[in-house]
Amino acid sequence: MTHKIAVLPGDGIGPEITEQAVRVLTALGLDLDLQTAPVGGAAYEAEGHPLPAATLNLALDSAAILFGAVGDWKYDQLARELRPEQAILGLRKALGLFANLRPAILYPQLANASSLKPEIVAGLDILIVRELTGDIYFGQPRGVREVADGPFKGERQGYDTMHYAESEVRRIAHVAFRAAQKRNKRLCSVDKANVLETSQFWRDIMIAVAPEYPDVTLSHMYVDNAAMQLVREPKAFDVVVTGNLFGDILSDEAAMLTGSIGMLPSASLNASNQGLYEPSHGSAPDIAGQNMANPLATILSAAMLLRYSLNQGAQADRIEAAVQAVLEQGLRTADIYEAGTDKVTTSQMGDAVLKALK
Ligand code: IPM
Ligand code: MN
Repeated sequence: MTHKIAVLPGDGIGPEITEQAVRVLTALGLDLDLQTAPVGGAAYEAEGHPLPAATLNLALDSAAILFGAVGDWKYDQLARELRPEQAILGLRKALGLFANLRPAILYPQLANASSLKPEIVAGLDILIVRELTGDIYFGQPRGVREVADGPFKGERQGYDTMHYAESEVRRIAHVAFRAAQKRNKRLCSVDKANVLETSQFWRDIMIAVAPEYPDVTLSHMYVDNAAMQLVREPKAFDVVVTGNLFGDILSDEAAMLTGSIGMLPSASLNASNQGLYEPSHGSAPDIAGQNMANPLATILSAAMLLRYSLNQGAQADRIEAAVQAVLEQGLRTADIYEAGTDKVTTSQMGDAVLKALK
């Protein structure tokens, strides 16, 4: 059976890193139909919209999407609905990609890359499960209005709405509990229940779902404390589940614990395991086109794609083993380079992974 995969390279370093992941996917000998389409700023330039209908339709019609990165400072002046970021938000919403899995793993070979002491982070392996289609990101109403009364009466006011429906919290809870079952069976739900109604509701639902997973220990933490604990004792976490906004912030923090955001993949899944796979880092326009970006996060995203959307766990293992092998060989792109290792380009890193594929 042929698996159709949408390849959306996007902006900045997106095309160069995606190219390497495509080479790796192609080399596996699977029956894949890879179709490329523009997205983000590149699509805006070509077709006047960051998520053209043809790109969206291709994505809807594919088993999985391999996504590079979108965004560039030069689009900062555009109206919100035309900005590159709208492409990724639009894809998440259109495909119902509510479950965002963001692993933060510190490869032993890169223990010195972290800004934290090696003993705090050595062996770090945590998973952030971020709800991705609800919360204040998509809540209505939102906008700018005139204040009707109170101390700010007559002034303009910006506003957004945070809400979560019970089914939205339940389905992400199940994803997180199941992930914890496959790992170290500890799940920490992060909220701001001391202040926000939405968060208290979120916490109540997490507690209600917990009895279905008696082997998993559920704990709760306020988001401000979680931000602190992530740098104090990150290895105390196993799986973290949280809403869209808190997850956005905490997953960047967790990624940086590893010191090598160029290494971290992510998966965004819907209820039928259709998924969008992208590196956790952005489009890095400052180094675009220089063949120096790290393609490993995108290559590892391709591995997640095989595991979660194509049910090809053994092929995913092959890719991950090959990445381990090139790190073991001492090959490093500029972002993870340290004295005594071998500095390589984006395409050389791709060559090395291809060669290391067993
Ligand atoms: C991310 C990004 C996006 C988000 C932006 C680009 C809309 O920061 O994937 O974390 O905020 O979700
Ligand atoms: Mn983010």
